[in-house]
Amino acid sequence: MKAEAFIEPAVTTDFSHRLAFYRERLQNTLDRCLPAADIYPARLHEAMRYSTDGGKRLRALLVYAAGEVLNVHVDQLDAPACAIELIHAYSLVHDDLPAMDDDELRRGRPTCHRQFDEATAILVGDGLQALAFGVLARAELLPAQARIRMVGLLADAAGSRGMVGGQAVDLASENQALSLLELETLHIHKTGALIRACLTLACETQPDLMATHRYALDRYGKLLGLAYQIQDDVLDIEGAAHDLGKTVGKDVAAHKSTYPSVMGLSAAKQRAEELFDEARSVLSILGAEAMPLVWLADHIQGRRH
Ligand code: IPE
Ligand code: IPE
Ligand code: MG
Ligand code: MG
Ligand code: MG
Repeated sequence: MKAEAFIEPAVTTDFSHRLAFYRERLQNTLDRCLPAADIYPARLHEAMRYSTDGGKRLRALLVYAAGEVLNVHVDQLDAPACAIELIHAYSLVHDDLPAMDDDELRRGRPTCHRQFDEATAILVGDGLQALAFGVLARAELLPAQARIRMVGLLADAAGSRGMVGGQAVDLASENQALSLLELETLHIHKTGALIRACLTLACETQPDLMATHRYALDRYGKLLGLAYQIQDDVLDIEGAAHDLGKTVGKDVAAHKSTYPSVMGLSAAKQRAEELFDEARSVLSILGAEAMPLVWLADHIQGRRH
């Protein structure tokens, strides 16, 4: 599919206009794929919808921005954007459970297990994860080959060699002092894998993509994913997590190793800045076409606002 329906071509430096448009597309796709809140079993479906509401939608924005860079028709991006947000929402519901971070606040509201109950929250995660793969498998606007590859990539990113593996190490590391290398590995898995997948899934819409461009986009995703979790650690310490509807200071309370705890707050902030810079600079090989992703990195860097 060609991208001529694709908004105004001359505004690549003003990606901000598209944020609302992309968020709305994501919301519509979520609305279409999630069972209505009154469909049996209604409590579960209500909780699934509750848990997919809100959030910054960074992962979906990354899929859409990468697709824009690659000149992919926006209709083809809805399914991967939605699938990744579903996996992300599930990961947050489980992350907040008493057996994990035992958190009471998420996206400015009670966490799923507080609003509903613990068993429902476990099942919400299970249901959202299954739905994500169903959405990809049925993405009729994508060639079957692309769908199959996306399913595999998302499974790797979400699973024990990706996000879930990172979460396991995160929990095992409570009350332990991790080295910087161990912490970097943890962050690259628990948060980085899914963020990186936003780029790799978008690339699957373009089978003839040059290897150098594919590599640059993958590297951007990896650098941005690490920067994002370091920033999350910093926001938790600085109290800005509150503005994002999350509990403040819970990493310290749970004796987690974080970038601020391992290297100090100002060094952690500086490391995040360096990673954001590096993420932008690896895109130079794509030239001006890459502006939506450059802009998105800028936007995330100032995410408190
Ligand atoms: C929270 O992710 C957990 C991390 C991996 C840092 P986000 O900060 O992207 O959460 P939402 O989707 O905006 O709520
Ligand atoms: C969450 O990391 C990572 C995943 C959900 C995979 P955190 O535990 O730091 O996220 P928040 O701070 O609760 O959002
Ligand atoms: Mg956690
Ligand atoms: Mg948490
Ligand atoms: Mg955190």
